Amino acid sequence: MTRFETQVGIVGAGPAGLMLSHLLHLHGISSIVLEAKSRAYCEARVRAGVLEYTSVEMLRVAGLAERLEREGLRHHGIELGLNGVRTRISFLELTGKHVTVYGQQEVVKDLIARRLSDGGDLRFDCGDVSVHEFNGSMPKIRVRKDGNEDEICCDYIAGCDGFHGISRESLPSGALTFYERSYPFAWLGILAEAAPSRDELLYMHHERGFALYSMRSPSITRLYLQCGPDEDIMQWGDDRIWSELNIRLACEDGWHPTQGKILQKGVTCMRSFVAEPLQCGRLFLAGDAAHIVPPTGAKGMNLAFADVYYLAEALSRFYRESDANGLDSYSSICLQRIWKAQRFSLWMTSLLHRFEHDSAFDRKLQIAELEYVMTSRAVATALAENYVGLPLHGF
Ligand code: APR
Ligand code: PHB
Repeated sequence: MTRFETQVGIVGAGPAGLMLSHLLHLHGISSIVLEAKSRAYCEARVRAGVLEYTSVEMLRVAGLAERLEREGLRHHGIELGLNGVRTRISFLELTGKHVTVYGQQEVVKDLIARRLSDGGDLRFDCGDVSVHEFNGSMPKIRVRKDGNEDEICCDYIAGCDGFHGISRESLPSGALTFYERSYPFAWLGILAEAAPSRDELLYMHHERGFALYSMRSPSITRLYLQCGPDEDIMQWGDDRIWSELNIRLACEDGWHPTQGKILQKGVTCMRSFVAEPLQCGRLFLAGDAAHIVPPTGAKGMNLAFADVYYLAEALSRFYRESDANGLDSYSSICLQRIWKAQRFSLWMTSLLHRFEHDSAFDRKLQIAELEYVMTSRAVATALAENYVGLPLHGF
């Protein structure tokens, strides 16, 4: 067995783990990141793509926004559609802020490159990772691979290993309470080689189901269709996908999405989930390991960044001033923001999707609510301020 020592052992090299490692480095705190998959896999995984105003600020202050500022697309609003009729929600006018469209895998590429150029210890292809003794004073992470075992001794463990990771699962039963809601649908998402033909995202409520028009760059569009929860992607040939997108996204002014070669397709399941608290002894959960939101509000990556920002601040306070108060309140501070993002994501999801088992009365109410958002400045402002991101203490 080979032993290593570091101040913070981080499980998972997604946005949460990588950003935490970088922020800790800026505070002069050492970390080792242990990732199950390869670097290429992490950099190629297509996920979310909308950064809140404060997430961009965080990346900028941390010296990570050079490419983002060059290539990220600034969006000053979104459009909501109801059966082909669109209304624009202007973030700029209602909140003075904007969001930035920049793929999660681009953020991950930037973070990996920066950690490596700063001499960071990122270990990919770790395979079997396990966490131990986090209720004592010296937690350990073990990595078993090809018959060898490495042991990383640390002061703290950060479980940043996503929803399917081992950190949350390793906590003793009863340590956490889970709050969960599932949805009777999923999203079929595609990445297409087609120049965006709209400037902003279009969220369309359609009687056949929700559709979203999004983008990644001046030459790549990202589109989603509401589909069944166990949808078989093999049943969705390219022609069927485009035909359904054309039906759901077609607008009364004749606009419909430009088609192009489909580069990637996949099904994303929809779930709302929170594990409380985000701490057990010297192990802290952050990002998708602790909570999942349905993607309709575009909050996933932003929540992960907010968590690790607070965690890095709390760890810095501990190492600088021997003050553990920040660590003790990490969970409760994060949960306030997490539940607000849960509320918003559920609300956006309920507003825009077709719920197969809704009564005729429920459907009428849903349309009334959507029309209310599309016509009331007050409700549109509530949407806008949540979408661009609620204030993050310190920014
Ligand atoms: N050991 C080591 N690494 C693991 C393990 C494990 N047992 N299990 C999972 N991982 C890795 C995954 O391979 C992944 O690279 O942990 C990482 C977790 O990354 P994400 O799932 O991207 O989670 P997070 O960093 O919290 O980022 C949240 O991801 O799902 C999106 O919408 C979400 O955008 C949000 C963001
Ligand atoms: C995306 O571009 O992937 C995207 C955009 C907005 C969402 C969800 C996903 O709400």
